[in-house]
Amino acid sequence: MGEEPKFQKSRRNVLKGIAGLPLFSDFDVVEGNDLSPINAENISSDLTLASAPNNLGPVTPRDTLYQILTDRFYDGNTSINDFADFESALYGGTGDDLKLYQGGDWKGITDKVQYFANMGIGAIWISAPYRNRESRIEDENDDGTTDVWTSYHGYHAHNYYPTHRFFGDMSAFETMRDTLHNNGIKLIIDFVSNHTSREKNPTKNLKEEDGKLYEPDKDSNGNYVFDSDGNAVGDNLLADPNNDVNGWFHGEGDRGGDSSTFGYRHKDLGWLADFSHENDPVVDHLFNAAQFWKSKGVDGFRHDATLHMNPAFAKTLKDAIDSEPGGPVTHFGEFFITRPDPKYDEYASFPDRTGIHNLDFEYSRAQTNVFGDFSETMTDFGNMLTKTHDDYTHEHHQISFIDNHDVTRFRYIQPNNKPYHAAIAALLTARGTPKVYYGLEQYVEPQGDLPNEGRIFMQTDGAFDKTTTAYGLIQDLSQLRRDNLGIAYGQTNILHTSDDVIVYERKFYDHVVVIAINRQPDQSESVPSVGTALPDGTYSDYLGGTLSGQSVDISSGSIDSFTLSGGEVNVWVDTPSLGTDIPRIGSVVSTMGRAGNTVYIYGTGLGGDVTVEFGSTTATVNSNSNDQITATVPDASPGSVDITVSKNGNTSNTYAYELLSGDPVQVIFHIDVDTDPGETIHVTGNLPELGDWTPEEGSEGFMNPNYPKWFLPVSVPKNTTFEFKFVKIDDSGNVTWEGGSNRTFTSPSTTNGVDDTPMYTWQS
Ligand code: NOJ
Ligand code: NOJ
Repeated sequence: MGEEPKFQKSRRNVLKGIAGLPLFSDFDVVEGNDLSPINAENISSDLTLASAPNNLGPVTPRDTLYQILTDRFYDGNTSINDFADFESALYGGTGDDLKLYQGGDWKGITDKVQYFANMGIGAIWISAPYRNRESRIEDENDDGTTDVWTSYHGYHAHNYYPTHRFFGDMSAFETMRDTLHNNGIKLIIDFVSNHTSREKNPTKNLKEEDGKLYEPDKDSNGNYVFDSDGNAVGDNLLADPNNDVNGWFHGEGDRGGDSSTFGYRHKDLGWLADFSHENDPVVDHLFNAAQFWKSKGVDGFRHDATLHMNPAFAKTLKDAIDSEPGGPVTHFGEFFITRPDPKYDEYASFPDRTGIHNLDFEYSRAQTNVFGDFSETMTDFGNMLTKTHDDYTHEHHQISFIDNHDVTRFRYIQPNNKPYHAAIAALLTARGTPKVYYGLEQYVEPQGDLPNEGRIFMQTDGAFDKTTTAYGLIQDLSQLRRDNLGIAYGQTNILHTSDDVIVYERKFYDHVVVIAINRQPDQSESVPSVGTALPDGTYSDYLGGTLSGQSVDISSGSIDSFTLSGGEVNVWVDTPSLGTDIPRIGSVVSTMGRAGNTVYIYGTGLGGDVTVEFGSTTATVNSNSNDQITATVPDASPGSVDITVSKNGNTSNTYAYELLSGDPVQVIFHIDVDTDPGETIHVTGNLPELGDWTPEEGSEGFMNPNYPKWFLPVSVPKNTTFEFKFVKIDDSGNVTWEGGSNRTFTSPSTTNGVDDTPMYTWQS
């Protein structure tokens, strides 16, 4: 209070289109660096191929992820920028009008594989690969002008089977996949199961627009038809939100400001036609579409938009994908919530409830504020790391990031290279699996503060320069993630914070890294002596002084008081051999599954004659090496179980796994009951999925768009007769059970099934 912020020449973070302040032009000169390139062969040497043909295995915390908007990267095939049946005015290509197609494609990504490999990137996330709406999208402005938009971003599904024509055909997709995989780079696709395209135009008095879903031709057996190159044949209308005869869409209109759970899950997001995930044919279609892309060898899915999805459906979709040949793949989703928000707890627990991890929006908010406009302090950053460590069950699986395509580009907020570089160093070392938004490494300049203005075309408005400092930092620290398991799997211990400085330690057994950062570009600050797990000795800066780091002496378990100059970042590393005798678990994929599923256990000391146990039940080991075990989930007692690995009398640390009691399907519970203000309806029963009769661990609160009628889709094992009761829980957590005998219901018998219970009334 009263004190002038020390460094404030930055711009405001605009999460949702708040106008920004004018641009600053006093950038530091981007200097070259002398970091030696990483050899792509070395990168892939410790990766084990998963059993599916063509897939490389899930992303792990040892990987750095790189997000690309396919249309905005590189135009490798100019012959697919126009089509006979396409309005050519919708192609821009110059990087000027970012509402139009620019021409980036899969051939362009293929052409740039060395750019990723040399940067140390372990996985790329690309735009949704299937056909999108191709017609122009018109938004009328208040001043009478019209903006013309396109579906260049892939968020307007039209038909899940043919490829997005502007990105390439199936052979271009497969060439890209193979080229990435041959260079040790995994492939994650955006996958939108929440909606199709816009059904009504809010700028034209809700005129009916599109939202239609199509499917390929079918053969006489009812199977979709593909040509010999794997391209889907035909494009036939399957469902239309403006004439929804089979109930494919929720049809509840746009969410607007409705902040109820029903509003979030059942209403449209920006009028994008919202699928009814409670309708079996819809579930079936989306399962098959996702499985189709898995069969194309993708290594993971970024799910759009989990905040708006029925979590019972999301859980069954994830299970349907992972239970197909090829084993578990990476799943993370967009649950766009940051603190403070009443939905924060729902955000933090979403991975535990569905097996789909989060893009870490809470991390992103803090990092952008701390390193961008300095509206939060380094102490706040440390507190966020501590809080989320407590709140997230699988902290390392959450995808940490600074910015993305839906927020203001970080460069707009932070034009000064010193805090900008410090932010990159923090992203790659603080915790989680880091994701770099394309162009971060080239300091690309957005056109403005709006998210779309940051979706620049790298080919015309960026560069593919392998010598920038930012590129070198990502390269160096990505190598460190592979080598040092403290960075990948370790806990984060905060050693010291102030408004501008943070010192933290990452530690996985004897792999230890200490990172010391000063975000102030022009002011030095002294750091008091702090204790560390680094053994006594002298450590040089892992970044070789790129960000002014120095060497440090450690004696008697402490780092002596030292001074950080403006923008200084130190990375002090100890990576001793952990030997091969003692098994240690760093990570597990998936974190949720059922008997018979494949599970990957990552860590060290995992080679040789190991025993894997889920609780006290032994799992079959299919293959193993020092770094990784591939096992089959045993038929153990379901619920939250601890995985351990033992060998030669040594037992590893435990890792929590959510063991489902069967193939998850949906049951939609209904009850007609009056409640007092503050009370919500829940269901509990004799399945772990229903909390084993512990109401607090049973279902989430029911929805009541038509009070006093309440409903909730809940995931339970298929083909199972179970007992249950409804309970009321008030806002102080007091539980009121209904009376009478236990109710029973039998879940659907098919994987894609959804059944409604009758409309019950409360038993007194
Ligand atoms: C979230 C995506 O990230 C965003 O870009 C998109 O517009 C919406 N979901 C709708 O698909
Ligand atoms: C838990 C019991 O196991 C169940 O059978 C009973 O209905 C409820 N408690 C309510 O008393």
